[in-house]
Amino acid sequence: MSTTSIRLIEPSDGPALAELLSRDKQAYARWLPARPAEFYTPAGQASAIESLLAAHDEGLAWPGVVVSDGTAIGQVGISSILRGPFQKGFLGYWVSSLHQGHGHTSHAVGLALRIAEDELNLHRLEAHTQLENLASQSILRKHGFRSWGIAHDHFYADGAWRDEVFWERTLAGRPAS
Ligand SMILES: CC(C)(COP(=O)(O)OP(=O)(O)OC[C@H]1O[C@@H](n2cnc3c(N)ncnc32)[C@H](O)[C@@H]1OP(=O)(O)O)[C@@H](O)C(=O)NCCC(=O)NCCS
Repeated sequence: MSTTSIRLIEPSDGPALAELLSRDKQAYARWLPARPAEFYTPAGQASAIESLLAAHDEGLAWPGVVVSDGTAIGQVGISSILRGPFQKGFLGYWVSSLHQGHGHTSHAVGLALRIAEDELNLHRLEAHTQLENLASQSILRKHGFRSWGIAHDHFYADGAWRDEVFWERTLAGRPAS
């Protein structure tokens, strides 16, 4: 049985992520933001990872990879961290089509929740899913997220504006100091 873990992204993840992302470029066009061609190359991923780690250094994000049997198979991350009276972050994820349907994302989201609570000391996580992304909604629901509304024409993907469900999950993070 394969294991799932998550860890902070590293510069050495660039080539593997570029390969996975370019393989799923068409399939995921419906769900993920459009990116320039450079993004799908090892150099483009090196640059993207540099930006993610800079945001981590500034306390604005926790950018992770999903690992199965020692290999990076996707990304899970907490971004847009707001402190002060909010203490919240935004959850995002994808897993390669080669590894879907085995519970990897669900397990990864559970681990990300622990990092959000124990390491980042956040009080709240938010996420968005397109109305039709039932797999993603199932994962969030399983981890205690509640939907609180629909944003119309919220996300531009695959040539059209898409409606999205907004999700929230409160955590046990300490009150703002
Ligand atoms: C959505 C995505 C992350 C799912 O990854 P995954 O590793 O296959 O997910 P898991 O195996 O952990 O769980 C999938 C869950 O969705 C359920 N599911 C799958 N297809 C479904 C469907 N059509 N309707 C309802 N539920 C569905 C599965 O039964 C499973 O739930 P369960 O654990 O209760 O059985 C993956 O397909 C992906 O990366 N898609 C493209 C990017 C994306 O959509 N990211 C999220 C943006 S909000």
